[in-house]
Amino acid sequence: MEMYTKAETLELRRKHIGPSCKVFFPKDPIKIVRAQGQYMFDENGEKYLDCVNNVAHVGHCHPDVIKAAVKQMELLNTNSRFLHDSLVQYAKRLTATLPEQLSVCYFVNSGSEANDLALRLARQYSGHQDVITLDHAYHGHVTSLIDISPYKFNQLGKDSKKEFVHVAPSPDTYRGKYREDHPDPGSAYADDVTKIIEEAHKNGRKIAAFIAESMQSCGGQVIPPAGYFQKVAESVHKAGGVFIADEVQVGFGRVAKCFWGFQLQGEDFVPDIVTMGKPIGNGHPMSCVVTTREIAEAFGASGLEYFNTFGGNPVSCAIGLAVLDIIEKEDLQGHASRVGNYLVQLLNEQKEKHPLVGDVRGVGLFVGVDLVKDRQKRTPATAEAQHIIYKLKEQRILLSADGPYRNILKFKPPMCFSMEDAKHVVNQIDEILTDLEEVTTSNIGNGLPTSTHCKRKTPTDGSNHESNSHINRNRCRQENGFCTEGHKVPCKRIRT
Ligand SMILES: Cc1ncc(COP(=O)(O)O)c(C=O)c1O
Repeated sequence: MEMYTKAETLELRRKHIGPSCKVFFPKDPIKIVRAQGQYMFDENGEKYLDCVNNVAHVGHCHPDVIKAAVKQMELLNTNSRFLHDSLVQYAKRLTATLPEQLSVCYFVNSGSEANDLALRLARQYSGHQDVITLDHAYHGHVTSLIDISPYKFNQLGKDSKKEFVHVAPSPDTYRGKYREDHPDPGSAYADDVTKIIEEAHKNGRKIAAFIAESMQSCGGQVIPPAGYFQKVAESVHKAGGVFIADEVQVGFGRVAKCFWGFQLQGEDFVPDIVTMGKPIGNGHPMSCVVTTREIAEAFGASGLEYFNTFGGNPVSCAIGLAVLDIIEKEDLQGHASRVGNYLVQLLNEQKEKHPLVGDVRGVGLFVGVDLVKDRQKRTPATAEAQHIIYKLKEQRILLSADGPYRNILKFKPPMCFSMEDAKHVVNQIDEILTDLEEVTTSNIGNGLPTSTHCKRKTPTDGSNHESNSHINRNRCRQENGFCTEGHKVPCKRIRT
């Protein structure tokens, strides 16, 4: 299955691939040659448990997805200017998973394209320009989305925020401004959005949209408090803007109880625009924007045709349909509920046992573990999170750490992730935490650094592809007490 040795692949990559395209574990990248279900295999046949690929939603290389793709490729692939049944059939099936008002689809090719189009729809419909986004949010790699992604633009310096962008606090009830002890954090966070709108109006600015992931993923696996979206939507609508729910990471049943993440807020909340990506095609590049008839009509009123060469082609639609069929046929939502609950239960047992575990949160197979150096102060345990990621890699488990401090262990495995997989990964984490805590207690003042709060952004080498650039990574690691050869821990201070 290999054309080149690993060293040759790396060398060719250095020569021909843009240097800002990063790999996981840069000092010892993994070369994957095949995958099946929730497992990936390297060039030596080593099997890795995949806890990071939410794109391979129904499992890597699912036979039904492959069959659907091949069958349609043998027959026809063309663009949406021709009538084709699979386009309308897929739109019908997809919109049936959503509240009735969300009935009009635009098929595109990536999460970024979906969010960029969502902004165009919002601006055309509202006649306004400004966008409210959440702190630490990531919405895509194109210019229009870097502008509204604090996760990215904050790295570009202090004047990088554009005037039309307004940043609201992330509704994180563990680490954010209003926490679990607040009587109504949902309203408190929503009131902050209302204040932002008022302030914008005072400055003569008008809000086109509020955009948020239904649950922030790069932002640190944040589950917004009850009532937050309803109240935000009310304020945004009053201001003439629309609510865009980014489901690129969290949609398609990952949250188990509902098909879409925003539905966790209750039936009385319906966004105006929903964007989808990653899991929609199980790895095939496709995505979608769904909106209301009213917004779609306003977009059409500009007179501009919307044409997208690949969006909604028959092969993508056949794949999308196969993914929906599999989710249903294999009861992947039920499975995500059972395995996700078990995973959270096991992780909560770790919380009882290990002071490093500050918070465990999850719905379905969207799970986060916030690691802390000090439970009272909630000091982020960034270095420890990085250490865990590297040690897990040695045990052939792929997990990432993310969030503003890169201290959140982020579980987003393929939906076929099993009970045994959950048990296995938590057992490994248990051992690593036990070792880490032994070092910390036996080396007070001389062990791991007392402050792992890295003032610079600390992209994780083990993190997913949307992680930050390498700027200052090594300096951060050093500040955090780690060797720059991150994966080669132990450096002196950590017993392994
Ligand atoms: C929440 C969210 N929105 C949008 C995107 C952009 O999607 P893509 O990389 O397919 O353009 C990402 C990618 O990581 C994402 O996490």
